[in-house]
Amino acid sequence: MKTAHRLDFIKDYYFAVKREEIRRLEKKGEPFILMAIGNPDLPPPPEVIHSLIAHLNDKGAHGYQPYGGLPSFKAAIAQFYRKRFGVELDPETQILPLMGSKSGIMWLSLAFTDPGDWILVPQPGYMAYASVARLVGANVEVLPLEAEKKWKPDWAKNSDKIRRAKIMWLNYTNMPTGEPASVEFLKETVAFLRDKDIILAFDNPYSLITRQPESVLKYAKNIYAVEFQSMSKNFNMAGWRIGWVAGHPEIIRQMAKVQSNIESGMFYPMQKAAETALDLADDWLEKINSIYDKRKRKVLELIQNFEGECNTEGGGMFCWVKLPEGMSGKRLADEWFYKYHIFIAPGTIFGPQWDQYVRISLTVSEAQYDEAIKRIRP
Ligand SMILES: Cc1ncc(COP(=O)(O)O)c(C=O)c1O
Repeated sequence: MKTAHRLDFIKDYYFAVKREEIRRLEKKGEPFILMAIGNPDLPPPPEVIHSLIAHLNDKGAHGYQPYGGLPSFKAAIAQFYRKRFGVELDPETQILPLMGSKSGIMWLSLAFTDPGDWILVPQPGYMAYASVARLVGANVEVLPLEAEKKWKPDWAKNSDKIRRAKIMWLNYTNMPTGEPASVEFLKETVAFLRDKDIILAFDNPYSLITRQPESVLKYAKNIYAVEFQSMSKNFNMAGWRIGWVAGHPEIIRQMAKVQSNIESGMFYPMQKAAETALDLADDWLEKINSIYDKRKRKVLELIQNFEGECNTEGGGMFCWVKLPEGMSGKRLADEWFYKYHIFIAPGTIFGPQWDQYVRISLTVSEAQYDEAIKRIRP
C-alpha cells in the first residue's frame, strides 16, 4: 500500500529507532546506560501521586472531560504564571492544556500553515518542529543559533527569512545547549517582531530546570506569541503526557479548534494532580535543580577522558558537550553505543553541522555515571 506523500519527507523518530536497537542489543549483552533522552529518572513529588490516587474516586473522574481542559487546571496554570513570572493570563481565553507540549506543535502548525507556507526552526534544536512542519506540507527554513552569541539567532542576518515565515520556533531554556533566554534577548526579540505578521512559538518545557526562569509572555506585548510549557521535565511527569500552551487568545482559540476535533479532553485525576504539582513549585525546584547540578559534575568527569567541554551554568536536562577539534560526535556516540552500551545523542540529530558536539543527559543516577566512567576507561 502506497503511503501518503507526506511521509516521504520524514524519517522514523531517531529515539524510537534507537530504543528498538537497544532492546535487541540488551538481549545479548549488558544493560544500556541511557544518557541520550531527556526522560526524567526520578518520580514526581509524592504529593502529586497522592493527589492522582485521591482523585480517582471523584464523581465523573472516568468520563470524558471538557474540551480545552478543566477550568480548575487552567486556573492553576494562570496562578503559576502570576507567581513565578508576574504574568497575568485569562484562564478561559489564553490557556490550553495539551497532552504533552509536543502535541501542541502539531495543533499550531495545522491551525496556521497551508502547504507551501514557511516555518522557521532553530538549529541546533528540537527535531519535532521541522518534522511536523513537513507533515503539514509547510517548508522548513533554518534559523541558525550562533555559539558566539550564546546560542541566539542574529536577527539582522535572518530578517528576510523571518519576513516570509508564518511561524517561528524559539526554545529557551534551550535544548540541547542549556542556554537561558536573557531578558535583553527576549525584549530584543519582541521589539524585532512587533511590525511583522508572524507567530512566535516559544517552547519553554524546561522553564523551571534552570536558575534563570523566564517566560516570553512577560515581554510579548502586541505581537502574536504563544508559549509552550510542560509538566514532563519540570515535575518528572514525562509519561503522563501533560503540558499547555498559553498566550495570544486568537492563536489559543484556533489551536483549541484543531485539538477538539482530534482529542476528547484529558484524564481528570491527571489534571487535578498537575494542579497539585504547580502549587508545589517553590520547594520542588530547589530540590531538583541541586540534583542536576551534582550530576553535571559527574558528566564533567565522564568527558575528561577526551577533553570535552561543557558549560554547566545553563539549565535544562543535558550537557551540550563540545569535542576537541577533529573529533566526530557521531563516531563517538556510535562507539559508546556499540562497544560500551552507553547511549548518548550525537549533535548531528539537532542539525547536520553539529558533529563536533554530543548531548549527554542528566537523567541517570550518579552511580550510573560512575559505571559509565568505568566502562570507557582505557
Ligand atoms: C525542546 C523540547 N520541546 C518539547 C518537548 C516535548 O515535551 P513534552 O513531553 O511536553 O511533549 C521536548 C521533549 O524532549 C523538548 O526537548
